[in-house]
Amino acid sequence: MTAISQERKLLTAIPGPKSQALHARKAAVVSAGVGVGLPAYIERAAGGILVDVDGNQLMDFGSGIAVTSVGNAAPRVVDSVKQQVEDLTHTCFMVTPYEAYVAVAEQLAELTPGSHEKRSALFNSGAEAVENAVKIARTFTGRQAVVAFDHAYHGRTNLTMAMTAKTMPYKHGFGPFASEVYRAPMAYPLRWPGAADKSSETIAAEAFESFVNHVHAQVGETNCAAVIVEPIQGEGGFIVPPEGWLRMVADYCTEHGILLIADEIQTGFCRTGDWFASDHEGVVPDLITTAKGMAGGLPLAAVTGRADVMDSVHAGGLGGTYGGNPVACAAALGAIETMRSENLVGRAREIEALFKHRLEQLRSKYDVIAEIRGRGAMLAIELTAGAGDLTPNPTATAAINAYCHSQGLVTLTCGTFGNVFRFLPPLVAPDHLLNEGLDIIDAAFERVLG
Ligand SMILES: Cc1ncc(COP(=O)(O)O)c(C=O)c1O
Repeated sequence: MTAISQERKLLTAIPGPKSQALHARKAAVVSAGVGVGLPAYIERAAGGILVDVDGNQLMDFGSGIAVTSVGNAAPRVVDSVKQQVEDLTHTCFMVTPYEAYVAVAEQLAELTPGSHEKRSALFNSGAEAVENAVKIARTFTGRQAVVAFDHAYHGRTNLTMAMTAKTMPYKHGFGPFASEVYRAPMAYPLRWPGAADKSSETIAAEAFESFVNHVHAQVGETNCAAVIVEPIQGEGGFIVPPEGWLRMVADYCTEHGILLIADEIQTGFCRTGDWFASDHEGVVPDLITTAKGMAGGLPLAAVTGRADVMDSVHAGGLGGTYGGNPVACAAALGAIETMRSENLVGRAREIEALFKHRLEQLRSKYDVIAEIRGRGAMLAIELTAGAGDLTPNPTATAAINAYCHSQGLVTLTCGTFGNVFRFLPPLVAPDHLLNEGLDIIDAAFERVLG
């Protein structure tokens, strides 16, 4: 098989004729509920390039939603998976165990925040990990309530839908939802009341006070098993809380015997320029959920946490047929080795500098860009009406995204109001690709708003 050059190449319109034919087949057999952002059907991929069935080479600014951080079909992931799949495909760890599961748990113990004794349990998807983190927290504390935040995204299963904030498309028509889930205001600096005249410290303090009041009045501290937080919110709009807020929430949880669950499914594994986003403020969560970037594209998720908390569950209480499948574990070991040996923490920080410089230039031209935010290679711009009017602008966001797609740049949007344009490139993407993608974004703004 020929190697895939790290360059964008367009041979047809996007999507091309073969992709369109496949999309017609899809409509005939795949549920309409499974939406598709850009219907270019991908045949092969490497690093930051996706090759579609028409031979077009698309540039990837989404990493399959923050999954292929080590690049698509990363060599160490491929080698590790190939070896594993020849040796052993499945036993079910709960029936007859194998080393790869233990090795992944060892890596998680070493890499996640805090030097305390830890345990992990492995699962298939992020939502499954979140569900299990709640089960564990309830067992350990003997309490039921869980507090999540405005704009949160924790998954699409029944319990995680209840924890996810946004109705459309994630919850609409799918209720009733699981009980004992409560919502507190999020520290969202751009949209905090009176933000224009307040310092970041003031916003952090006010948001924390509002959270404390909510828990006290609507839940009761002694009923609360866990507070779950994305240190940088993902689907909700790449919302970065002000410095200090997460630490205050963590300290409050400790004071009241409430477990802090950091949902690092999107932010984890080098994405934000640290191994985990909690590291940025030195916060050590009681439990941390991970998935996505951990296994370089194979389905694997984990709950990692304090040994006393994780071991409070009765034997057989955690598990599942495929959780910690050996092939997915082998992929994770290959991906983690890549992150270490290629210093992807450092690379994420370089990507942040490159993007922020270019995005600031863009913002100086277009006042609809109300904010550039994020850390590492988890970056976004929020689009509004402009001239200080913060009314969300999902129309321009969608048009800019569509133009990028037409040029072979795979981009994503997000946000409660659909007005956040987000960037999640593979951490191994070379500068020339990143700059070319940013040139296309420049052209998209010119086309839509120029
Ligand atoms: C923060 C966060 N939690 C949970 C999930 C759910 O993960 P999955 O789609 O693997 O179930 C996601 C997915 O986007 C996420 O970003």
